[in-house]
Amino acid sequence: MGGKVFIHAFGCQMNKLDAELALSALRRAGYEEAATPDEADVVLYNTCSVRAHAEERVYSNVGKLKSLKRRKPGLIIGILGCMAQKDGGKIFERLPHVDLVCGTREFPRIAELIEEARRADRVLACSEDAAVSEAREISVRPDRRRAFLGIMRGCDNYCAYCVVPYVRGPEISRPVEEVVDEAKRLADDGCREITLLGQNVNSYGRSFTPPAAALAGLLARLDRIAGLARVRFVTSHPKDMSREILEAVRDLPTVCEHLHMPAQSGSDRVLAAMNRRYTARGYRDLVALARELVPGIAIASDFIVGFPGETEAEFDETAALVRDLRFQNSFVFKYSTRPGTAAAKLADDVPWEEKRRRNLALLEIQSAIHLEENRKFIGQEVEVLVEGPSLRDASRLTGRLRTNQIAVFEGPETLAGELVRVRVESATPLTLAGRPTPTGDLRPAAGG
Ligand code: SAH
Ligand code: SF4
Ligand code: F3S
Repeated sequence: MGGKVFIHAFGCQMNKLDAELALSALRRAGYEEAATPDEADVVLYNTCSVRAHAEERVYSNVGKLKSLKRRKPGLIIGILGCMAQKDGGKIFERLPHVDLVCGTREFPRIAELIEEARRADRVLACSEDAAVSEAREISVRPDRRRAFLGIMRGCDNYCAYCVVPYVRGPEISRPVEEVVDEAKRLADDGCREITLLGQNVNSYGRSFTPPAAALAGLLARLDRIAGLARVRFVTSHPKDMSREILEAVRDLPTVCEHLHMPAQSGSDRVLAAMNRRYTARGYRDLVALARELVPGIAIASDFIVGFPGETEAEFDETAALVRDLRFQNSFVFKYSTRPGTAAAKLADDVPWEEKRRRNLALLEIQSAIHLEENRKFIGQEVEVLVEGPSLRDASRLTGRLRTNQIAVFEGPETLAGELVRVRVESATPLTLAGRPTPTGDLRPAAGG
């Protein structure tokens, strides 16, 4: 048993967290982490299937391990996660040097599966009804000050383009007490900021008996944990966002004024075809309500361009939405057909060049807004949770605002993990730069 393991996660934050959970399980089984595949006895990739491009990256990365495997015949190569769940044994055909394929619900057994792969030829573990254990080694996390905390798994929304419900299974929320307990243990271990994760955190509690709208209540519980300075939650589905949740953001001191609430499109025809279950008007009203209740709230969005049948006029409605709503950030994706989804039955009829043009056009609108919005911070005093020395310039510290922008400023490294007041002096699209207000103004750490 044991050895050195290299693990890398593609895809979303939930996949990164699952890689941490797999690593936790391997640590308990006596493994150590390797910094590169070359130093490892076991190489694991936690994969993503959300777009064809995400899968191609996995194939190319794992393809490159062929020569390493030739040099080190005992090397175990494992494909975990969403692509493993989706493609199962087909992965061995395309990547014959892979030893282990493990889906999204069996990774807690990873140590055992690796042992099996060492004995047997190939191991395939993609059961759909394995219950995922969230058992977590609190000390296994890449960042001492900030951590992800999964509050639910899976998704029941079946947006027409999306593979996630098929590869991650039904939506299941973790019990409140379990989440609160994990948050307390993280806080006791020096964690200052927690990001709650789920495909649709706004519906947290829907799988409880009886079903409950439980996110606002959970936030209130987390707000009382000593030592915890900030709580965020992603991703928000507009159809399940409520006044109650927005009021929790307004009223609870630790809950950050920051939402990731994907709009996907500004056209009602396209939104209906996507099965998103809100209209552009509904989305605009929701953003207005969020800004009325929580002034200064930062809202980030995702968009898909070139969904089947998307006309020029429908795209223009999306562009107008981006222009009007002034998001903090927009992630823009070119539609990619996912086999088995409802949209896969529709002709993928927007040419690639046109998707590319629409993609760049949206990003251009967004990046101008981004810089204008960042410039509004010049002269303001903001709260920064210090992460540590900046990678670009070790003489400066870096950290994030409550609204999630990155800030850099000069100060001693001992401030890592502290909340500091910074006066912003300049802004680029990516960062705000400034200096701390006089030492007397340093805020004591929240919660003691
Ligand atoms: N659960 C999250 C999104 C998870 S996937 C939510 O509902 O907000 C992240 C983003 O990928 C989505 O918001 C969507 O914009 C994009 N996406 C998902 N499937 C896609 C596809 N087939 N083609 C292109 N982009 C896609
Ligand atoms: Fe995919 Fe929609 Fe679920 Fe998000 S809410 S994971 S986009 S099906
Ligand atoms: Fe995440 Fe990609 Fe799976 S976005 S849930 S890793 S398909």
